[in-house]
Amino acid sequence: MVPADESRLLPLFTGHPPRRAADTCRYRCGNACAHEAPNTSGNPYFGDVVRDVVNRRSVLRAGAVLAFAGAGAAALPSVAAADRGPGHGPGHGPGHGGLGFQPVAPNTLDAVVVPPGYEQDVLIRWGDPVLPDAPAWEFTNQTAAAQARQFGYNNDFCGLVPLPGRGERYLMVSNHEYTSEKYMFHGWDPADPTREQTEIGWAAHGLSVVVVERNRHGRLEVRLDRHYNRRITMTTPFTVRGPAAGSAYLRTSADPAGRTVLGTKNNCAGGVTPWGTILSGEENINQYYANADAVTDPVARARLARYGFPGGATERKWERFDKRFDLAQEPNEANRFGWIVEIDPLSPGENPVKHTALGRFKHEGANVIVARDGRVVAYMGDDERFEYLYKFVSDGRFKPGGSRYAREHNKRLLDSGTLYVARFTGDSPAAEIDGSGRLPSDGEFDGSGEWVPLAHNLTSFVPGFTAEEVYVFARAAADTVGATKMDRPEDVEPSLRNRRMYAALTNNNERGNPGKEGPTEVNPRVRNRHGHVLELEERRGDNTATRFSWRLFLVCGDPAAEGTYFGGYDKSQVSPISCPDNLAFDSRGNLWVSTDGNALGFNDGLFAVPLEGPERGHVKQFLTVPAGGETCGPVIEDDFVLVSVQHPGELDGASADNPLSHWPDGGDSQPRASVVAVYRS
Ligand code: FEO
Ligand code: CA
Ligand code: CA
Repeated sequence: MVPADESRLLPLFTGHPPRRAADTCRYRCGNACAHEAPNTSGNPYFGDVVRDVVNRRSVLRAGAVLAFAGAGAAALPSVAAADRGPGHGPGHGPGHGGLGFQPVAPNTLDAVVVPPGYEQDVLIRWGDPVLPDAPAWEFTNQTAAAQARQFGYNNDFCGLVPLPGRGERYLMVSNHEYTSEKYMFHGWDPADPTREQTEIGWAAHGLSVVVVERNRHGRLEVRLDRHYNRRITMTTPFTVRGPAAGSAYLRTSADPAGRTVLGTKNNCAGGVTPWGTILSGEENINQYYANADAVTDPVARARLARYGFPGGATERKWERFDKRFDLAQEPNEANRFGWIVEIDPLSPGENPVKHTALGRFKHEGANVIVARDGRVVAYMGDDERFEYLYKFVSDGRFKPGGSRYAREHNKRLLDSGTLYVARFTGDSPAAEIDGSGRLPSDGEFDGSGEWVPLAHNLTSFVPGFTAEEVYVFARAAADTVGATKMDRPEDVEPSLRNRRMYAALTNNNERGNPGKEGPTEVNPRVRNRHGHVLELEERRGDNTATRFSWRLFLVCGDPAAEGTYFGGYDKSQVSPISCPDNLAFDSRGNLWVSTDGNALGFNDGLFAVPLEGPERGHVKQFLTVPAGGETCGPVIEDDFVLVSVQHPGELDGASADNPLSHWPDGGDSQPRASVVAVYRS
């Protein structure tokens, strides 16, 4: 049960493929990693980066204003640990930044495992009622009409918005990223899906909004609230807003105005805004569109290729039942997905919004911080190998308070502003970044960088691109300005306590391969199997700044291996961690990291790590999820933790006809993705 010591004995599973099952790759991201990464642009390779370093060093020496460029961890501006009263949650134990729990040992169990002294409950599962009139779920008697009233499939992000009124109530919003039909239906025939199966899939995508309330035992329970509970599916109308709303690139035969889109899909991570709405990222949308190879216009074809649209039929074959999924018939429909969407759970009658000002790519999610001058800044990652980190800075300023006027004002903040992409420079000699993950002689992977503006409302800063082209084809615009190719940027979260931004870079099995970019200081390992976590500090702590300094906080993997780094902490004392994906903070400012695809051969999990003080870098595993599953959407409250257990039992050889997990219902049941709540016993 105590792996801090055992971790030193963990074998390195060299040559073991990441533990993500083939089905997860197929259904979640359309086998993105089996294809060549679609970024074939000629952005700066290592040699260019080195030249850039030399130029930039003089700037550094002259200015010396970057908070920690080239300095050790001790030079980070200190944030005093909050002197909070004793709480009951995992962030409120003694020592270790309050993270006093005993770490969970790596395992491959078909169970959620939590530390001694904690217990866990399933809060809601795939198929559980969301709307009061939802029928009871029956695996062998699914209908689209029922699914549209029940909790959707494969929940990823989870966010809580407090509800005013008596008792402790929240609106819990969950993303339903994707469907895995092979696990949903007995006798699934991928060559011949039925209309009902297809429409169940449409209803199982999207989001759920449910009221959850603390009962008198302190446990959360779902309430079938008639007013707030809501399902958003592939047929829910969304309003398109921002500078590309109405663009010719967004017009279709069903929506000649280009301003109303039916549905959202592949919603991965997300964030709760300071004004109490939910942002959700439309991620691997390319896999849902057939016949990219039938598009003959070379410009349109190149744009489709840049987003990885495959030719021919799709895995789910939705194109057989709605022509909008056929690019040969509706070439612009695909441009209406790949956005950040905003849902106001407090206004259940209101259309959710697609925000074009935040650009179109494979959005993992978006997280907002209010800058010191009141403008709001959204940080975002494009989750694919060799893709980019972005940020958006609003024109308008945040109005505090919960008045209707303030909320309506704040809900327009993401309509206008500037979209940037990140360019990173390392400060160590190129020869010291050898691809192994070995630290350079200055003791850190670190350096400086800049946010390169792409567009401000109707003004493009990218040669050859109109503003609407920047927004709709943001990847191509970012290529043009030489953005830095990253190792799968996933969740990007600003800390509200230290104002630094943390980015999970999950892995990149192609870095350093022939014809691909090699190691850079910000992505220092070739064939990066275990990923890393980046810490970025904006100049003068101003989140609207265009210059920043950065360092790698974690270089993940087996702590016994040389090419791993845990914020400078004693590696013999940490939990092994692989493939960081989602990030969250607790009220003490500790970072929590969930993983996707643990390449060390164990189940995915949730980890906590202090960012400040002597415990900085002391990674401890808080829980593990069942085999085949992914840990997502962590919510870290003082008295409880929520995680999404996504795709439990998606293991090679498994299916609805041969389930290899029976979590959470046990017996011979089918596995069901769920939200799990963890409490102190
Ligand atoms: Fe849906 Fe980037 O994980
Ligand atoms: Ca360095
Ligand atoms: Ca993710």
